[in-house]
Amino acid sequence: MKQVKRTFALLDPKNQKKFLLLTLIQMGLGFLDLLAILIVGLFSYAGSAYLGISVLPENLKRYLNLLGFPVNDLGRTLVYLISIAVILMVSKSILALLILKRTFHFLANRSAEISERIGMRFMHSSYSVINGVSSQEATYAVARGLHLGETLGGLTVIISEITMLVLLSGFIIIADPLLAVTLLIYFISLYMLSQKKLGAWMRRNSAVSTDSTVKGDQTFQDGIALYRELFISNKLSIVVARFAKLRWKVADSTANMQLIGYIPKLSFESALIIGTCLVGIQQVFLSSTESAIATLIMFLTAGSRILPSLLRLQSATSAIQSVSGGSEIAFNLIKSINTSEIERGPRSQIRFSELTFEPSVEIEGLNFSYKGRDNFAIRDLSLTIPTASSLAIVGQTGSGKSTLVDLILGILEPTSGSVKISGVDPFSAIQMWAGSIGYVPQVVAFVNGNVRENVAIGIESSDFSDDTIWDCLRMAQLESLFKESPTGLDTLIGERGMRLSGGQRQRLGIARALYSKPSLLILDEATSSLDAETEKAVAETIHNLVHKVTLIVIAHRIATVKELDQVIYLESGQIIAKGSFEEVRSAVPQFERQAKLMGL
Ligand SMILES: Nc1ncnc2c1ncn2[C@@H]1O[C@H](COP(=O)(O)OP(=O)(O)OP(=O)(O)O)[C@@H](O)[C@H]1O
Ligand SMILES: [Mg+2]
Repeated sequence: MKQVKRTFALLDPKNQKKFLLLTLIQMGLGFLDLLAILIVGLFSYAGSAYLGISVLPENLKRYLNLLGFPVNDLGRTLVYLISIAVILMVSKSILALLILKRTFHFLANRSAEISERIGMRFMHSSYSVINGVSSQEATYAVARGLHLGETLGGLTVIISEITMLVLLSGFIIIADPLLAVTLLIYFISLYMLSQKKLGAWMRRNSAVSTDSTVKGDQTFQDGIALYRELFISNKLSIVVARFAKLRWKVADSTANMQLIGYIPKLSFESALIIGTCLVGIQQVFLSSTESAIATLIMFLTAGSRILPSLLRLQSATSAIQSVSGGSEIAFNLIKSINTSEIERGPRSQIRFSELTFEPSVEIEGLNFSYKGRDNFAIRDLSLTIPTASSLAIVGQTGSGKSTLVDLILGILEPTSGSVKISGVDPFSAIQMWAGSIGYVPQVVAFVNGNVRENVAIGIESSDFSDDTIWDCLRMAQLESLFKESPTGLDTLIGERGMRLSGGQRQRLGIARALYSKPSLLILDEATSSLDAETEKAVAETIHNLVHKVTLIVIAHRIATVKELDQVIYLESGQIIAKGSFEEVRSAVPQFERQAKLMGL
């Protein structure tokens, strides 16, 4: 019930109405079906009367007469009855097909729509939400975790089957009240019993199955990512064994779920036989043999109609239960998105930077602490970076350099204080001057594709400009590498850039940042894994940009930052020295030592 409610709530009011309408039509179809069966029943009564096997019961005669059938001409009545039944059945089948088509498309489309909506919300929620879940979990939750089809499709079945059962009971009550009550009590208690026991079992297994599937995927992917380390420490088989353990868990719970699916079918069938026997015995003792046979036939006929209906009901309920455990991950994600303090609108498409964006950065009394940490990663930091100037951020590892850059870029939101890029907050700056801000992260990530796709990231392939890509590669000292390769820009670089060296990965990151011709460029450790010669070349690229763009560089390699306008030295999130390279050098003994080591 909870699963149905929360899934239904995902639909917007217009679609909720549409869904209810589709369900209503399904119910109507069930009614048509029932009507057709009733008419067939009438037909068999009238038929046996026509053949002289029995007489038409008085009340039936009355009903038929009331409905306008020529009861005195049984032959014609038969023709009418069967024609109506045929028309009803055929039109029901055609309508059912049309409605099913509509329902399937409706649910599938809503699934896609909701995936998009949640994906959009997730990507634009605060960084701590995005960081708070594993990529496997997030992907599963956004792409497949909601099970809209199973849940709402199941709901339609449940509603229409219940209506059908109520109608059927109504007809039986009219025909034989005692039998109706017996049937109802018998089947409803049977259903409740199986539902109660099996439902909980199903939910448990489904939760285990989903959880283990997601964790298993994660384990195997981690194994691939850590291949080198695991290979060296001879731990590859340990990872596979851990993965296998989770797979066995999935196997066990999947088999259980399949079994649970079959139990109702088997038990309901036996219940029908047992019920028939019980009713038979009771009738033989209590009434005449003829009446016993008549009641038995009624019980069997009604039972064989109720049974499939109950089975459909059961299988729809169990389908909902089987996905409800698995949907937990998705609904938890939605909850964390909804409770996230920050929600940001979708970012606009890249607009190239010919627009007049003259970036300066103004930081005032900035404080920041990571969620769950009590110390501040950035403390009371104020700083001005004028347009077209350059800033070097230095400091020991863990001193808050990357955090500061994340705050300047608006990836993290300040705990207090403010960051302004050209007078507006970073998020608005990105909206207004998208593409004018370039960023090379400390660890460059890649898409599983070729060089072209990895440089011009996030741009439609039809908009790629090979000339620009070559320009960027040249500036990042990567041109010769791909010029020499016969596949050129089509060279595949492998998942996570595995087919590139560490230095090449960083240089590709630089080429990517340069693609949109940024006027504010931020490099986080971008030169840390380059050899001295390549570093010099990249430094030259960077120096060529000095005073052309506003430049912020984090580097351990002091040589790279020597010629920049301003240097700040961070310690525990605070600026302890600020000024020219020489000024900072004389103020911070640690920095002086490093500079000396570098022979400066
Ligand atoms: N996502 C995070 N959640 C919690 N704490 C974090 C997170 N990222 C960084 N920190 C902590 O914040 C502090 C500053 O980290 P930051 O990455 O800014 O250092 P850094 O100066 O860039 O170091 P390095 O030179 O090694 O790159 C560190 O103590 C780090 O452990
Ligand atoms: Mg860092």
